[in-house]
Amino acid sequence: MQKELWGVMAKCGERDIPLGVTQVRDLGGAVFREAMSRIAASVHIVTTDGLAGLAGITATAVAPITLEPPMMLFCINKTSPSAERMIENGVFCINTLTGAQETLADIFAGRTGHRLGERFTHGEWTKLVTGSPVLRGAAAAFDCRLAEAKEVTTHFIMIGAVEAVDFGKEASSLTYAHRKYGTM
Ligand SMILES: Cc1cc2nc3c(=O)[nH]c(=O)nc-3n(C[C@H](O)[C@H](O)[C@H](O)COP(=O)(O)O)c2cc1C
Repeated sequence: MQKELWGVMAKCGERDIPLGVTQVRDLGGAVFREAMSRIAASVHIVTTDGLAGLAGITATAVAPITLEPPMMLFCINKTSPSAERMIENGVFCINTLTGAQETLADIFAGRTGHRLGERFTHGEWTKLVTGSPVLRGAAAAFDCRLAEAKEVTTHFIMIGAVEAVDFGKEASSLTYAHRKYGTM
């Protein structure tokens, strides 16, 4: 692919990146990161509990796969201690956050220094079928049994069979785009 620089630059953190077509390798991923920041996403907290222990992270890399049977996926960095616990427990719950749950999103993103089980001292938690923590007041919760953990370079794609779904009364969605939270 021809690299076209149109002389127009965009601010990307500390550096300027060119607008227009750029091969990702030319800027060590900065262009890809900038492009990804423009994908407006819903924010979720993915949790697990079981013999390996309690864990949870904030995630936007979440997607439904099939309706029948109901299956969903999310992607987690292999270095996260939560990944190992999710695989060992064999269960996870995708809690889709409302606009009022931004503080919890920061806690489960590790921005407040809380680790693993400590994160659950915030928020009100219950369980459905698999035993994974379900956040009270979440817009929706998808309680899943792990069907497959597929390793893709730095991440695992966790594929889950949905065993139960719960809805909150509050239907607003916490979003993340342009490196900022928003509400829809
Ligand atoms: C808005 C937002 C979305 C995130 N999405 C993901 C994601 O999809 N997958 C992932 O592995 N980490 C994601 N992270 C980072 C993890 O939340 C963070 O690395 C993790 O909670 C750190 O805790 P740990 O030490 O238990 O892994 C996201 C962070 C934020 C703020």
